[in-house]
Amino acid sequence: MAPILWLWPQASAPDADIDALVADSGNWAMAWLAIAVVMTPLARLSRSVQRALWLRRAVGLAAFGGSLVHLWLYVLAMRAFSEPGGEWALIRDEAFAPGILTGWAALALMLPPALTSTDAAMRRLRAAWKRLQRLAWPAAALALVHMAVVHDGFTLALIVTALIAALQLPRFISIRPTRKA
Ligand code: HEM
Repeated sequence: MAPILWLWPQASAPDADIDALVADSGNWAMAWLAIAVVMTPLARLSRSVQRALWLRRAVGLAAFGGSLVHLWLYVLAMRAFSEPGGEWALIRDEAFAPGILTGWAALALMLPPALTSTDAAMRRLRAAWKRLQRLAWPAAALALVHMAVVHDGFTLALIVTALIAALQLPRFISIRPTRKA
């Protein structure tokens, strides 16, 4: 969360460019979410990633936390555009625009895995826990569509999608990371 939390003091500065911070926080949240979904297949290629797999839940939580910071900055940006108290009406009015709706839907799908990311929830939910964690996949897909629509051009979203897709290949090929001599 450290890079995302750094946006907090920046947003409090009197001359803060809130729109740029909305974009930065969205990119950080997307980056953590993308890393969370490629860690498992990458662990098949690299022993260091394999050793870092215990961090996957923390990475997913950073993506969720980053999305909440992104949402908070979005509310601040809408506040700057409206009369005092009028930001909620603006947010409601544009909530169903495809670019924004996909953001809300991605956040909603990240909520159940985030809320059940504790060891206790893992023990209680057993097999259902894994199914809940897999919601990170549709969340990532929706976040990518959101990024493609709201970002200025599809290129970055396409590059990230292609990278995520390519990094899934080790799931289908039987490769084991080589042991260091
Ligand atoms: C909670 C609902 C969400 C709302 C209302 C929302 C809103 C926005 C808005 C207004 C922008 C345009 C920023 C700009 O370029 O000026 C944006 C960009 C973006 N958002 Fe979201 N978002 C939401 C959720 C998410 C989630 C869950 C993710 C990823 C996990 C995400 C990732 C991004 C990315 C990658 C961008 C592109 C940043 C750029 O332009 O460089 N957003 N979002």
